[in-house]
Amino acid sequence: MLDFPGLEGITYLDSAASSQTPNQVLARMEHYYQRDRANVHRGAYALSSRATDAYEEARQKVADFLGTDADQCVFTRGTTDALNLLARTLPGKKIALSVMEHHSNLVPWQQRPEAELIWIEISEDGRLDQASLEAALAQKPDIMTLTWVSNVLGTINPIQEIARRCREQGTLLVVDAAQGVPHLPTDVKELGCHFLVFSGHKMLGPTGIGVLWGERQQLEKLPPYQFGGSMVGLVTREKTTFADLPQRLEAGTPPIAEAIGLGAAIDFLRARGMAKVRQHEKELTGLALHELRKIPDLRIAGPQDPEKQGGVISFQVGKVHPHDVATILDRRNVCVRAGHHCCQPLMRRLTDMWTPGARAPIALVRASFYLYNQPEDVAQLVEGLQEARKVFSRG
Ligand SMILES: Cc1ncc(COP(=O)(O)O)c(C=O)c1O
Repeated sequence: MLDFPGLEGITYLDSAASSQTPNQVLARMEHYYQRDRANVHRGAYALSSRATDAYEEARQKVADFLGTDADQCVFTRGTTDALNLLARTLPGKKIALSVMEHHSNLVPWQQRPEAELIWIEISEDGRLDQASLEAALAQKPDIMTLTWVSNVLGTINPIQEIARRCREQGTLLVVDAAQGVPHLPTDVKELGCHFLVFSGHKMLGPTGIGVLWGERQQLEKLPPYQFGGSMVGLVTREKTTFADLPQRLEAGTPPIAEAIGLGAAIDFLRARGMAKVRQHEKELTGLALHELRKIPDLRIAGPQDPEKQGGVISFQVGKVHPHDVATILDRRNVCVRAGHHCCQPLMRRLTDMWTPGARAPIALVRASFYLYNQPEDVAQLVEGLQEARKVFSRG
């Protein structure tokens, strides 16, 4: 735990919302602020060149992490920013998406004038419903946009297979990898999607930085999304030509320290090894599922199978409100998330499955794991849940 000062004295089970930051990332950002502080791509002096080199090195680290080239990695403010960019710039009317999407991968698409949304339903065990997926593909959507790993159910969606199907029929596949890239070994060529987006703060990096990766041919077709400095070629009173990728999609001064911090986070994750990160989370998830199933009245959403899900488990504790559960856990310094998890359509769907006819949508408690969690954290969670049951069964 020495690497993570933020973990001292707490049981942190909310990495799906945001991860903790290791000292190595903090040190690298501090180094930039103390030694290399200047704007990028501008100054004709050594300090600015150092800042530019550090920023572009970070981009190369992202590219190596994804198995791609640096000019295909656009820095954004995060997943939401990247999805807004795509929702504003990709052509097409018919957009297929699943019921398990985070609001970030629904609301931006909903705002497109004349958008026709095609919904992919889920099965009882929280996976994409195969018949519904087939029906969506049969409508030949222009775009399909799916989460790789659900932030509520933990479900790992079969992106590779879906990408193959999309390519056969000319549907562009966008992957929301906010919960994927931080936890699973990622090779964009193997995945086969056209675009993939994620956030730095969920993978040990700072807030305010994310990535849009795109297949070169597709990325080149995207028109600029924002306009200003850094993204231009020649500007006259009458008109402007635009810079090449990736600068064309990065208007204004970018989040320099944040990109450098993300590069350091990637160094940390690579040193640990993403296969090991995944294995560790698989084991913790297996242990947690085993222990949680012993608690009476606890109802778990999703596949309940560590092979088929990431390190995310969402559940209800009898009739105890999730916020009450979270409050009891907080008294023991156990940090979990409670509520709708930015997935209101999914909550509606789960409500219809679990309590047909109920008007108010259910809410869930969510525990999520990362490389720094240990079996003791699962034990703390279980003890806290047992207390919550006791406290709320009295009244
Ligand atoms: C699956 C998924 N998509 C998108 C987002 C949005 O990420 P950000 O808030 O970093 O833009 C999240 C964050 O919780 C998420 O879990």
